[in-house]
Amino acid sequence: MFKKFWVFLCLTVESLDALFVFLWVAIVEMGYAMSRLEIESELFEGGNVTSEAGCSNRSDKPFCKVDHEIAQLTNLKSVPNERLHQLMPGKKKLPVSPVKMLAGREGNYSRRGGFSSADRCHMISRYLPVNGPWLADQMTSRAYVSQFSADGSLFVAGFQGSDIRIYNVDRGWKVQKNILAKSLRWTVTDTSLSPDQRHLVYTSMSPIVHIVNVGSATTESLANITEVHEGLDFSAADGGYSFGIFSVKFSTDGRELVAGSSDDSIYVYDLEANKLSLRIAAHMADVNTVTFADESGNLIYSGSDDNLCKVWDRRCFVAKDKPAGVLMGHLEGVTFIDSRGDGRYFISNGKDQTIKLWDTRKMSSITSCNLGFKTYDWDYRWMDYPPQARDLKHPSDQSIATYKGHSVLRTLIRCYFSPEYSTGQKYIYTGSHDSRVYIYDVATGAQVAVLKHHTSPVRDCSWHPYYPMLVSSSWDGDVVKWEFPGSGEAPTPVSKKRIRRRYYY
Ligand SMILES: *[C@@H]1O[C@H](CO)[C@@H](O)[C@H](O)[C@H]1NC(C)=O
Ligand SMILES: *[C@@H]1O[C@H](CO)[C@@H](O)[C@H](O)[C@H]1NC(C)=O
Ligand SMILES: *[C@@H]1O[C@H](CO)[C@@H](O)[C@H](O)[C@H]1NC(C)=O
Ligand SMILES: *[C@@H]1O[C@H](CO)[C@@H](O)[C@H](O)[C@H]1NC(C)=O
Repeated sequence: MFKKFWVFLCLTVESLDALFVFLWVAIVEMGYAMSRLEIESELFEGGNVTSEAGCSNRSDKPFCKVDHEIAQLTNLKSVPNERLHQLMPGKKKLPVSPVKMLAGREGNYSRRGGFSSADRCHMISRYLPVNGPWLADQMTSRAYVSQFSADGSLFVAGFQGSDIRIYNVDRGWKVQKNILAKSLRWTVTDTSLSPDQRHLVYTSMSPIVHIVNVGSATTESLANITEVHEGLDFSAADGGYSFGIFSVKFSTDGRELVAGSSDDSIYVYDLEANKLSLRIAAHMADVNTVTFADESGNLIYSGSDDNLCKVWDRRCFVAKDKPAGVLMGHLEGVTFIDSRGDGRYFISNGKDQTIKLWDTRKMSSITSCNLGFKTYDWDYRWMDYPPQARDLKHPSDQSIATYKGHSVLRTLIRCYFSPEYSTGQKYIYTGSHDSRVYIYDVATGAQVAVLKHHTSPVRDCSWHPYYPMLVSSSWDGDVVKWEFPGSGEAPTPVSKKRIRRRYYY
């Protein structure tokens, strides 16, 4: 059995791209025999993972299947080519096993000599990065930011104690740059890498954004001691008062920065002219998150403690400070927004303990501020969400789906779509106050995996753009890798004792 398996493998390997070799070797390493593969459909067991399918139970209207175009759009991105079935004996059945997919590919079923992106996603999206975890780094300070670069070659982690580390993913997670910020207020709130990966900006609870040259040879980058961390002043020329920045992003062309602030505004900074180019009085409370809707950079999404998500079109500012549209539905502040990258759909995490999925075509120009049905008062920084509030629904909820199970407390917990390349954005994943990472299926709303390792809130996590690998970081100081099925080493022993500044690869 195994011999045949290997021969098949060798024949195949030549034409496989790196990812399939990776996956394939991974499968072999795990000792899955062919027969096992033929019948597999779920590979989520193992590791510290619980899989729960089905509807959310908490509200009176449980979540069942998104009845919306996006469900079809998402499914289309991971359905194998029709012709595959003509080549295969037996009934049409999904999902098609990896062996059949590869055999079909060798038979040139698509007549294009390879997999389409949907074929690829059909295959890889089943292998969730849920095994492990393996330690990437361990600090004695709370992790606030964790992000892969767009090409997956670098990973950035930002800690409250003013360290920002850039790891070289391809070189065994070696620290390529160890940035030490100076006189931070409270914490590093956000970081952003320029599209050419040569610069990194970091923000804090201050109107000065600092920019560091990532490309320089200096590894230890101590602010204004070993390297200049230039300060970009976001406070308006007319003086004004001090504020903090919660969220910062480079534009796709790398020429601008957009930021969301504690003075209810969105700022745009022109890096070429080296000055602030725009300030929008965007919301009625803290702007916790801003992001570009797509590559064009014309559309910006923002989310705020005034419970609203807003869409801004820079090509036609109707009137100053007037958004292109507003999306309401969250009952509490919005902590984070991730765009699907198509200028149409996005998700938001809310302090009402939900993720909501939005279609910008449903936005309106008016907002109803009447939330008079709310009879409770609470503070997410130190209280639990009132149980009676979990069943409430906004009277004019414009979202197209709601995902529940994780908790959004204490800090601005982040949520994302899973990668386009390997999963066709089939999932949504999020950190959680209960120290876990949750993965939901976009179309069914089911919780497909829960990752347990951390002992403190997980504020940020990031799924590698190409490999089945997810990195989570937490206020416990750990930065850990979850993979399918792992890189062969033994997983991190779960130890309650803190090991001070011990570096792992
Ligand atoms: C899962 O977690 C428990 C403790 O919570 C630990 O003893 C066990 O080794 C972990 N298993 C894996 C595979 O990580
Ligand atoms: C849903 O709620 C019912 C009763 O409220 C409970 O018996 C059941 O176990 C719950 N199911 C899940 C999946 O949580
Ligand atoms: C697959 O089939 C197409 C059309 O028949 C052909 O042009 C192409 O060269 C084939 N590719 C391979 C790798 O055999
Ligand atoms: C470093 O010096 C520059 C001016 O040379 C200043 O703009 C910047 O704010 C300083 N950085 C820090 C972290 O103090």
